[in-house]
Amino acid sequence: MGIQISPSILSADFARLAEEVAVISEAADWVHVDVMDNHFVPNLTLGLPIVEALLKHSALPLDCHLMIEDPDRWAPAYAEAGAKSVTIHAEAAKAPIRTLRMIRAAGARASLALNPATPVEQYEDLLGELDMLLLMTVEPGFGGQKFLDVVLPKIHRAREMAKGRDLDLWIQVDGGVSAETIERCAEAGADVFVAGNAVYGAEDPADAIRELRALAEAKTAHPKPIGFGRG
Ligand code: DX5
Ligand code: ZN
Repeated sequence: MGIQISPSILSADFARLAEEVAVISEAADWVHVDVMDNHFVPNLTLGLPIVEALLKHSALPLDCHLMIEDPDRWAPAYAEAGAKSVTIHAEAAKAPIRTLRMIRAAGARASLALNPATPVEQYEDLLGELDMLLLMTVEPGFGGQKFLDVVLPKIHRAREMAKGRDLDLWIQVDGGVSAETIERCAEAGADVFVAGNAVYGAEDPADAIRELRALAEAKTAHPKPIGFGRG
């Protein structure tokens, strides 16, 4: 699949969501939607009704990141509503395998998120149940936080695990991803990049996405063949 960029609307103007999504739709691959319930994380954002409304106005597929206490109860509904990717947190799910399978059965990509301090090793056997693994590079809850370098070795280990099992697993990073940090993430093995502040805080969000993509593509271990068939 190569490098993909999923701008987070957490940093957009919530009163103008449809327009904010339109601004990125030429340049981005996904729209990252941060659902927070003020219990799993100390912040409250939006839920299913707003996701349903946004689905009608977005030219891009929705990548819903559920930072909520009871993902087993709510996640399948996001997939049924039409979100193309649904992420649940390992720290919150009580029956992750069942919930991930329900997400897939509803036609969406199933993804599991790990907080910075949650080890990936204990989820190794679950990787085959996943279309994407989200490795948080900040403590979840807020946009605009500083990138946590301490997560980089985990990204590398997760990529090695996926390779060892011959899995086509997308590895997403979320939190503090910017022009300063994206190359390190790509080098470590991430291929899907969430960026809130780095996109919506920029003067031209579409340009910021193109810059992030170019930086990541230059560092990825699986670059597109260059010069193939030339001369
Ligand atoms: C944080 C959210 C992120 C957030 C990232 O809990 O999951 O998606 O929007 O924002 P930046 O890119 O500004 O760190
Ligand atoms: Zn997120």
